[in-house]
Amino acid sequence: MNQPKAYAESNALQYRHVLDLIEEFAEEFNKMKGRIIDIGCGPGNVTKDILLPNVDKNAIIVGADICPAMVEYGEQHHRVKDRLSYLQLDIQAPELPEELVEQFDNAVSFYALNWCKNMKLTMENIYKLLRQGGKAIILMISHHMIFDIYLEQEKDPQFSAYMQAAEQSYYQPTFQSRHDDTK
Ligand SMILES: C[S@@+](CC[C@H](N)C(=O)[O-])C[C@H]1O[C@@H](n2cnc3c(N)ncnc32)[C@H](O)[C@@H]1O
Repeated sequence: MNQPKAYAESNALQYRHVLDLIEEFAEEFNKMKGRIIDIGCGPGNVTKDILLPNVDKNAIIVGADICPAMVEYGEQHHRVKDRLSYLQLDIQAPELPEELVEQFDNAVSFYALNWCKNMKLTMENIYKLLRQGGKAIILMISHHMIFDIYLEQEKDPQFSAYMQAAEQSYYQPTFQSRHDDTK
């Protein structure tokens, strides 16, 4: 996922679902103040258009993504002076950058953590980013039948060339995969 512009033009579904989530948990989001990190922010359109207007008006948001192209795109297109900036971060890093530890009052993540294979490390890192009493709200795919369909396609000669090692592949959500014993 390294094409921010293409992704930003095609994430209408994610956009809709994040709006639904914020509507459902409006009170929790409205109470978010201080420093907020959006983990796996992608190109930053969801962060700027949906998250920013729904948290405390003085909150400062940092969009974080593993992909440098996403971070650069966010900086160029969705930065808001004094309120929203972007940085590169792998939330599965064995060691978090020291300067980020306990620096956030809230963490959010939308449709990103399903890309993480080591869920224990991922959650520990989110915990480390938060200050005491901090809260996280996470929206991610745990299971979907489309991923079972990919496994069937792997066995079908018509598709198998495109679907090799589907079960171990990066796009299988960790809770769906039967190969991850770290979850
Ligand atoms: C489907 S996009 C979601 C983007 C945005 N949150 C949205 O709702 O439109 C998933 C993003 O997670 C990022 N990502 C994947 N693994 C990550 C990791 N280990 N640490 C940080 N970001 C990650 C990807 O680079 C990608 O930009």
